Amino acid sequence: MALQISATNPEHPALLLDLPWQLPLEEWPEHYLVPLPRGISRHVVRYARAGAEVVAVKELAERPALREYELLRGLDRLNIPAVDPLAVVTGRTDGSGEPLESVLITRHLGGSMPYRSMFETTMRPATMHRLMDALAVLLVRLHLAGFAWGDCSLSNTLFRRDAGAYAAYLVDAETGETHPQLSPGQREYDLDLARVNISGELLDLEASGALHPSVDPIEFGMEICGRYTALWQELTRTSVYPAGKHHYIDRRIRRLNELGFDVAEMQIAHSSNGDTVTFVPKVVDAGHHQRQLLRLTGLDTEENQARRLLNDLESWMATQDDHAPGDPLTTRPEVLAHRWVRDVFRPTVRAIPPDLRGSMDPAELYHELLEHRWYLSERAQHDIDLDTVVRDYVANILPTVRDALSPSTGAAGPAAQNGGTTATGEGA
Ligand SMILES: Nc1ncnc2c1ncn2[C@@H]1O[C@H](COP(=O)(O)OP(=O)(O)O)[C@@H](O)[C@H]1O
Ligand SMILES: [Mg+2]
Repeated sequence: MALQISATNPEHPALLLDLPWQLPLEEWPEHYLVPLPRGISRHVVRYARAGAEVVAVKELAERPALREYELLRGLDRLNIPAVDPLAVVTGRTDGSGEPLESVLITRHLGGSMPYRSMFETTMRPATMHRLMDALAVLLVRLHLAGFAWGDCSLSNTLFRRDAGAYAAYLVDAETGETHPQLSPGQREYDLDLARVNISGELLDLEASGALHPSVDPIEFGMEICGRYTALWQELTRTSVYPAGKHHYIDRRIRRLNELGFDVAEMQIAHSSNGDTVTFVPKVVDAGHHQRQLLRLTGLDTEENQARRLLNDLESWMATQDDHAPGDPLTTRPEVLAHRWVRDVFRPTVRAIPPDLRGSMDPAELYHELLEHRWYLSERAQHDIDLDTVVRDYVANILPTVRDALSPSTGAAGPAAQNGGTTATGEGA
């Protein structure tokens, strides 16, 4: 059997060919590897360099490797936040011709943190609630798409900063199954597995002294169920309105959009006596604001970041009444949006020296600056301009949080770390 690298992108096999496939993953020499934090796993997992990319390499039997690869590709097509599958390597043999296990290769998810590293500094309960929120949203999105995870847990999730909150990504799809639609029983079963896994993981953290004393592992496990159920209900319930009150439907759609979801189709039925209207939305993917921001500005961000940036863009647009009358082009939202990126967003982010940005991406940084502006304006009881905000942020906030921002331990942006220093402090 010869070494075979199957990949969707024709450029990837060449990049991957240089890796030492004849060695068991555990014996790969250091110079191939990238020492980034990893979560707990059943299989051997390592990060390696492949060209300009960092890839995660997971050693497992051929069939599950191919299966997981296909499942991850399916999730990618559905726009679900999950790690990107790059390739599967099969037919490996060692120097003496003995077979070695296959590997699944995924792109290392930049800016992500396994939960264990997030708990290295004791995590405040408010931050933990944010993690549960993110995980509940991920599970709802998977279930809406007909994907039963089969092993939802903190270890199988990666978290990325998202405007002071978190965005959760699926990292381990090995146990997943796709169906046209999930039955309530299938969803409940999946949710129950999540609850048991999460409580177990938190109990482990508690035993090692890494858990905030006020956190009850069992209650936090149940919290995921509460949040999941509330969101599922909100997204899928049938509403009944008095006839003629069509704006109720608009209101419901707006609310769904606010939650980040889009409505693909809807069923509207009138009751036989014509008094009431029943409305059932078919909610499709999340990422409503993400797509809107991408379309308007070309900026590709997480959902909460997008919502935040859109708000800022909108209020900035409202102040732009200097366009020439009779020149309709300059008034188009896309045109204004590009001006905002060029004149406001980019210069503001660039004003923060790169070596002080830690692991924050531009959208997260901009979000932090908006938070700081809010805090300064509240304190001063009048609006503070962004230039002043940037100067104050660089002088007074960044120095105090620089250490906390190193990629291995940075559990949250400065606003979240420094509860009370800026407007997103705990309880805000
Ligand atoms: N693409 C990736 N990007 C970042 N981290 C990854 C990636 N793939 C795997 N990991 C890390 O490796 C850990 C184990 O991966 P996982 O797929 O859960 O292995 P297992 O199937 O053995 O449980 C994850 O918790 C995560 O920390
Ligand atoms: Mg796993």
